[in-house]
Amino acid sequence: MMKKRRNILVLHGPNLNLLGEREPGLYGTKTLAELNASIISQARKLGLSCRIFQRNGEGELLDLLHRHRRWAGGILINPGAYAHYSYALRDGLAAVALPAVEVHLTDVSKREPWRRVSVLAEVRCACIAGKGPAGYLEGLRRLARELGA
Ligand code: DQA
Repeated sequence: MMKKRRNILVLHGPNLNLLGEREPGLYGTKTLAELNASIISQARKLGLSCRIFQRNGEGELLDLLHRHRRWAGGILINPGAYAHYSYALRDGLAAVALPAVEVHLTDVSKREPWRRVSVLAEVRCACIAGKGPAGYLEGLRRLARELGA
């Protein structure tokens, strides 16, 4: 039987579809497709399965959380700017009650003051920021440990 704890739902939030062309000085030149390929390869090495989505809308991200909640054992999410103000996303993560790791490509603690706040802080088990694409791979390792997968 498939072990649910090996299943990771990966969610990329708003504007991350433009990775590679979006403010490359900040976010790098890797495209979302390239990032996803490295996530899939790392997940394989760790014996994890991933379902990966990018959505710009808050409601669309919530729909994915709800839809995949019974399949997923854990969540890896770059909420983009929603991290800083989306109480709906915060409540959604609390509702599905799965271990969640928040990832940011940039070091949000060293940018504008409003980026230093994450309203998701209470509902995720870790936040990895400022490590670029490698942060996602670290996030997967963190989830694998958390889930004992
Ligand atoms: C980001 C940081 C957010 O503040 C920003 O709104 C993003 C990207 C990051 O990955 O560094 O869209 O989540």
